Amino acid sequence: MSSSRILTGITTSGTPHLGNYVGAIRPAVQASRVSGAESFYFLADYHALIKVGEPARVQQSTIEIAASWLAAGLDPERVTFYRQSDIPEIPELTWLLTCVTGKGLLNRAHAYKASVDKNTAAQADPDADVTAGLFMYPVLMAADILMFNAHKVPVGRDQVQHIEMARDIAQSFNHRYGEHFVLPEAAIEESVATLPGLDGRKMSKSYDNTIPLFAPREQLKKLIAGIKTDSRAPGEPKDTEGSALFQIYQAFASPQETVALRQAYADGIAWAEAKQILFERIDHEIAPMRATYESLIANPARLQDILLAGAVKARKIATPFTSKLRHAVGLRDLSAKVTTKAAKASKAAGPTFKQYREATGQFHFKLVDAQGRLLLESQGFESPKEAAQTIQQLQKDGAAALTKLQAQLQLAEGVSPDDVGAALQQFSEA
Ligand code: TRP
Repeated sequence: MSSSRILTGITTSGTPHLGNYVGAIRPAVQASRVSGAESFYFLADYHALIKVGEPARVQQSTIEIAASWLAAGLDPERVTFYRQSDIPEIPELTWLLTCVTGKGLLNRAHAYKASVDKNTAAQADPDADVTAGLFMYPVLMAADILMFNAHKVPVGRDQVQHIEMARDIAQSFNHRYGEHFVLPEAAIEESVATLPGLDGRKMSKSYDNTIPLFAPREQLKKLIAGIKTDSRAPGEPKDTEGSALFQIYQAFASPQETVALRQAYADGIAWAEAKQILFERIDHEIAPMRATYESLIANPARLQDILLAGAVKARKIATPFTSKLRHAVGLRDLSAKVTTKAAKASKAAGPTFKQYREATGQFHFKLVDAQGRLLLESQGFESPKEAAQTIQQLQKDGAAALTKLQAQLQLAEGVSPDDVGAALQQFSEA
């Protein structure tokens, strides 16, 4: 396994906006170019179904998000870029994890709790309009992450609890079935500021204050013209503090450009002019990507091919790992021998015979106890078969065989025949 795996999902429930670009897409694309980490980016379309009941919107959003990430420079050759619903092992793992997840853990999830609180406040049934999908959201997300044993999961602050839950779920599974999962950690980009929207609040679909990332040039210009400012007239000095326009500019500009705009504010630049500068700056960065975006949108079959190729890559990991997990929980080949935990433990904890060949060419064996202490050594035999037959006799007849075979065996220093007898008894019992 690679030393560092990064994985993140994007819910396909909307159109990417500048806030998504600055907060998630741009840093992720940059990180994916740095070698040393293996990155997984996927379209969380099963998650989208929890929020969106409109099929066309899920489809459209999937196309737009896939095209946006690719246009922004994500290289599907370098990273694994896929659609969650192209990996049937994800819902399968979701079920295995569901069975080790406490219902109480899920009761504490912020998103579920918020819905219940809202209902309670409205004096409605606490679970009114709450689907089991919303309740199970954290388990599906844990499956996304644990399937690829991701170490780092870049997410926004609102998702940190989900990563913690994925850790808890991984621990429960590991505790019951053995160490299968890496415990993931949230990676929060401290340096990436949240972008304000048109009204100055955080840019977010739920506030309806977004600027779509790939709005056509004219629309981009119009939207920027609508960014809320104060009423200071041209010539009056302006505050950069609390200016959404300034903060958005800063997210795109170089430090020198930012210094220059700060000066222009102090010098009383007109809002219309500042907006023009912001528009030019954003368009300068976005325009080349916009061309790629538009060509991808016009060719969804190509997008689909890229995503399917990503799914093939992802399933090279997911398919064998899921087989291993199925085996771990007992969904097994029925013709294979059933080994109970107790039998496995006693076998592991018991004494063992070890056969080997000396430089003389003769075949020997020794008996060691569970702690690896030497109990007994044999003389040399001409063939491995003779050695094996002697071992069998010891295993079958125990202490009695010990006396009979005395001449061929030598007890280790400080070991009594009773010690060996006790060890041999475990073989006749097994
Ligand atoms: N819940 C995440 C969000 O809304 C999207 C997501 C789904 C995700 N599965 C994930 C993020 C796995 C990181 C890892 O932003």
